[in-house]
Amino acid sequence: MKNKRRDFLKLTGLAGLGIAGGGIFKGYASESDKQNKPGLDQLSRQYEKSHVQRFNMSSYRAPKLDIVRVGHIGLGNRGPGHVNNLSRIVGVEIKALCDLRPEKAAAAKKLLEGSGHNPTIYTGSKDEWKKLCEREDIDLVIITTPWYMHAEMAVYALNHGKHVASEVVLAATLEECWQVVEAAERNRKHCMMMANYSYNSFQLLTLNMARQGFFGDIIHAEGGYIANKIENNFSKTKYWDMWWLKQYGNRKGNIYPIHGFEWICETMDINRGDKMNFLVSVESKDFQMGEMAKNLASTDEFYKPFADLDYVGNINTSIIKTSKGRTIIVQHDATTNRPFTLKQEICGSKRSAMEYPQPPRISDIEGGWVSQEEYKLLEEKYTPNILRKMAELGKNSGSEFGADLLMAWRLIDCLRNGLPLDMDVYDGVSWSSILPLSEWSVKSNSLPIEVPDFTKDAWKTNKRNMEITLAEGGNTELKKKV
Ligand SMILES: NC(=O)c1ccc[n+]([C@@H]2O[C@H](COP(=O)([O-])OP(=O)(O)OC[C@H]3O[C@@H](n4cnc5c(N)ncnc54)[C@H](O)[C@@H]3O)[C@@H](O)[C@H]2O)c1
Repeated sequence: MKNKRRDFLKLTGLAGLGIAGGGIFKGYASESDKQNKPGLDQLSRQYEKSHVQRFNMSSYRAPKLDIVRVGHIGLGNRGPGHVNNLSRIVGVEIKALCDLRPEKAAAAKKLLEGSGHNPTIYTGSKDEWKKLCEREDIDLVIITTPWYMHAEMAVYALNHGKHVASEVVLAATLEECWQVVEAAERNRKHCMMMANYSYNSFQLLTLNMARQGFFGDIIHAEGGYIANKIENNFSKTKYWDMWWLKQYGNRKGNIYPIHGFEWICETMDINRGDKMNFLVSVESKDFQMGEMAKNLASTDEFYKPFADLDYVGNINTSIIKTSKGRTIIVQHDATTNRPFTLKQEICGSKRSAMEYPQPPRISDIEGGWVSQEEYKLLEEKYTPNILRKMAELGKNSGSEFGADLLMAWRLIDCLRNGLPLDMDVYDGVSWSSILPLSEWSVKSNSLPIEVPDFTKDAWKTNKRNMEITLAEGGNTELKKKV
């Protein structure tokens, strides 16, 4: 029982919360031992209870920043794209770049040659990023390191008075989720998880339709991240320090509850009118990664440390029920040969929509799919202003405009105009919490697990964000492409 309990504390990150020493978790051992179950539900509830919301960050408007001074941590595969996008937005000054690996930091700086940005480089040791966060002349810290580092970096940056925009996921344990919330509220600084897939045209179009009641009451939705990354994960060079493979070999559950999930929460107004109540997570066995690791290790010493890891199962499926009685299915599969899909299906009382398999579809009132011609007409009618603005900015600047650039532009535009960001800290942590919660459910034979209320009841009255009508702001320009 003791070992089991230790495992559970480790996986949810609750081990560091003073459980053994009493405090908010006093009585845990006797209660749970008595019932012969881990009792993490009580622990999680107690932690939620002990969190006092100092300030509601939903709809928060920070003081306007004419120029947004940026420091960026993590410049591997993902980081340089953000650096490039930010460098093209008027009103951004890239002040500092940090990566553990000097060559990555230097390569990102090279991208900025001739752009007018001249960032200081921080590199060579694993704590250099702290110096970047400590600088007085930085407003926004962008984090694109491996996700298990995000929360620590975000909390440090928030505590040094910076706004934070982090790559997905924002936090990897429940403890980290609460730490990020606490730091954002105490410092009154934005902490946004950069959910870039929310800025794709199908997602923005259907979000607008959902808000105008086109689908009726949204009852159910399905999404996921289903993308075969097995070669990448076993590549010796693709990711720094084989970090993805280590995560796949040391955790369970949906370890990337992202890309196919955020839009669902946005269309369902999760954290503003509805909330996720509980989830049940079921996971297949691992049929591929363990075997692949063993095979590789038999001829290559490099893979020996990976040969005996207990890999995440191929397919994880989590079912979530919301307070309003709606249901969500979210899936992760990074190994099978299924063609890429995010699913992206919403089912309303009147109509439904589905992005995959492509082409995207919208149903008619009788239950069939509308023709592609009718789809185009609906698109014309319901395209939200944010997408129209994107087309205009792209034309004026001669730029290709995709979801990543739109997200960066919108983030900067909101900061410059003192507007609420599209995703607040409660969105970031509640979406991320599916990772440890699904892991907890899988490890408990798929028991239902409560999703904490990170808003502390404010979800009942919090207003919508993701302001796709651009009622305010929208005046940030893009530099002309040279
Ligand atoms: N939203 C998306 O579409 C998308 C796409 C790809 C990756 N991501 C996310 O971006 C993040 C980064 O992924 P990636 O593919 O770029 O990984 P990566 O391994 O290519 O890059 C991570 C970088 O972090 C650096 N790093 C590690 N420890 C550091 C430290 N202590 N200080 C400073 N730098 C440090 C590494 O040197 C490396 O360059 C992940 O969280 C991933 O989930 C998101």
